[in-house]
Amino acid sequence: MRLLPAPSAHSLRLLFLFIFVMGVAPSPALTAGCPDRCVCDDQLVVQCAGQELTLFPNDLPLATRQLIISNNRIGELPALQLNYLSDLVYLDVSNNTLMEISESTFGNLRKLAYLDLSFNTLTQIEDRTFGPLSSLVMLRLTDNPGLSEIHPDAFSENMALQVLDVSRNNLTTLNISSLIALPSLRSMGLSGNPWRCDCETEDLCLWVQIEGFKFQDEGQTVCQGPPELSGQRLAEVGMQLRADCHQGLGYWDYLFFIAIGFVIFSAGTVSAWVMGVLMVLYERYNKRKGEDMDSDDEEERHMGGGMMGGGNQGNGDVNKPCMQV
Ligand SMILES: *[C@@H]1O[C@H](CO)[C@@H](O)[C@H](O)[C@H]1NC(C)=O
Ligand SMILES: *[C@@H]1O[C@H](CO)[C@@H](O)[C@H](O)[C@H]1NC(C)=O
Ligand SMILES: *[C@@H]1O[C@H](CO)[C@@H](O)[C@H](O)[C@H]1NC(C)=O
Repeated sequence: MRLLPAPSAHSLRLLFLFIFVMGVAPSPALTAGCPDRCVCDDQLVVQCAGQELTLFPNDLPLATRQLIISNNRIGELPALQLNYLSDLVYLDVSNNTLMEISESTFGNLRKLAYLDLSFNTLTQIEDRTFGPLSSLVMLRLTDNPGLSEIHPDAFSENMALQVLDVSRNNLTTLNISSLIALPSLRSMGLSGNPWRCDCETEDLCLWVQIEGFKFQDEGQTVCQGPPELSGQRLAEVGMQLRADCHQGLGYWDYLFFIAIGFVIFSAGTVSAWVMGVLMVLYERYNKRKGEDMDSDDEEERHMGGGMMGGGNQGNGDVNKPCMQV
């Protein structure tokens, strides 16, 4: 029985050659070489950590999927070179000397899922900095000691974002209006910042209080000011701030109450009036109907009465002879 011949050694060798050529040759990762002081592997990972680089590496394979340039002294992410890497999924730039990143820095990295910018010297995050990163799932932005400002809309377009860590920066406040609307966000790191717990951070404190489970190191997320709240957890002061920041009623509140009162009063008056008119009309209608029936009755009574009277008279007449009898 040799209907299905076993593959010979020769055809196996051909098969392997075929797989090798198809699987590897078209990938530019191996054809485009590898930057100095970096290690590139056939998984499209480029590893340049701790090489005392001061510049972003040149000649990166265009198909690079993971780029690790942590623990260097790179001061700038050049938008042009970075945006050639449109297949990049993972980028670790932690522990460098980045001072700024802008909206154009990540303009073309639509597949990027992981970004680490921790341990740098960033001072502020501008509007839409991460806007083009529509696949971003995890963003680490910790340990930038001078980072004191994050624009309210910095993350507003990162609909895939699940984990955001801004621990150990110099943040005193954070506007959460767009963060709270991110559909996938499930973990936030806020600890180690000098939070100022006043009316400006009221929303943030309330958020930590209500959704405490989302916050890593929630126990170490404390207020640094004002002095009377210093050292208290953000989650403890949320309700207190809510009460303190909405104490008295303003001019507009009173105006609003007066307007509402007037509306309720006039609605009541109008409905009472309408009810009254309806009842009067109904009563009149009923009376009219009653009068019509009454006059019919009267006519009948007149006629019946006459006949009855006649009858009585007749009876009387009839009775008379009997009485006479
Ligand atoms: C940062 O990188 C330097 C080498 O450039 C290393 O000595 C240091 O331990 C690193 N720091 C952290 C926090 O990883
Ligand atoms: C943190 O911010 C404050 C002002 O809010 C500033 O005085 C201080 O120097 C900053 N710290 C660092 C390390 O930049
Ligand atoms: C937060 O930012 C939004 C949008 O920029 C703005 O409308 C809102 O007033 C800000 N909230 C606070 C408390 O500053």
